[in-house]
This record gives sequence, C-alpha cells and structure tokens, in this order.
Amino acid sequence: MPKVTLHVDGTIVEKEVKDNANLVVLAGTLQFPEIKYGCGMGRCTKCICQVIDGADGVTPPNWKEEKMLGDKLNEGYRLTCQMTVQKDIEISQDNIKIDPPKKKLSPTI
Ligand code: FES
Repeated sequence: MPKVTLHVDGTIVEKEVKDNANLVVLAGTLQFPEIKYGCGMGRCTKCICQVIDGADGVTPPNWKEEKMLGDKLNEGYRLTCQMTVQKDIEISQDNIKIDPPKKKLSPTI
C-alpha cells in the first residue's frame, strides 16, 4: 500500500492508502480529511498540490489538469482530484493557490 506524506497547514500527515486511491475521494469519505478540495471535478483548482517526491507514483496529468494548470505542471503542480496514487508520494498543499484560468468571453454576434 502506498504511503502518502502530506504537508498541509504547517503540519505533516502520513497515511497509507490503497493502490490507485484518489485522495479527494478519501477526503470526501473522511478517510483523509486533511486534504483540501472543492468541486472534485477538475474545475476549481482548490485541491492543487505540489508533488515534492515520487512524481512517478501518481497517474500522469489528464486533459483537465493540462487545461487548468498549463505550465505549472512542469513545476510539479497537480490537481489532487484528478490523480490516483500507485507508489509512495510526498505532496504539499501548504501556501499554494492558483486561480483557475479565466473563461474566454464568447464573441458577440
Ligand atoms: S477539487 Fe476542484 S479541481 Fe480538484
């Protein structure tokens, strides 16, 4: 079972999770309540984390993460709600806030 080390609100939380666990699902079921999240659907970015160690221990970014995070993916930022855990990872949600990209206005006709 992979171990997740989470830095959040100035503390460190360590938990073992099942293979392919989604941490936001665990947060929603109060099995990992320390995880910060919002919509759970890749739209709000409130679940953003930075992977400190073990980036190969989570699934690769999907199209929602590419759309919402863009170049931030290269700096190790991920949407926690969009990844699943396969190996030990260390992530941080301390002092991280990235606003979702602004919606483009539709052209007026
Ligand atoms: S919880 Fe909203 S984007 Fe992940």
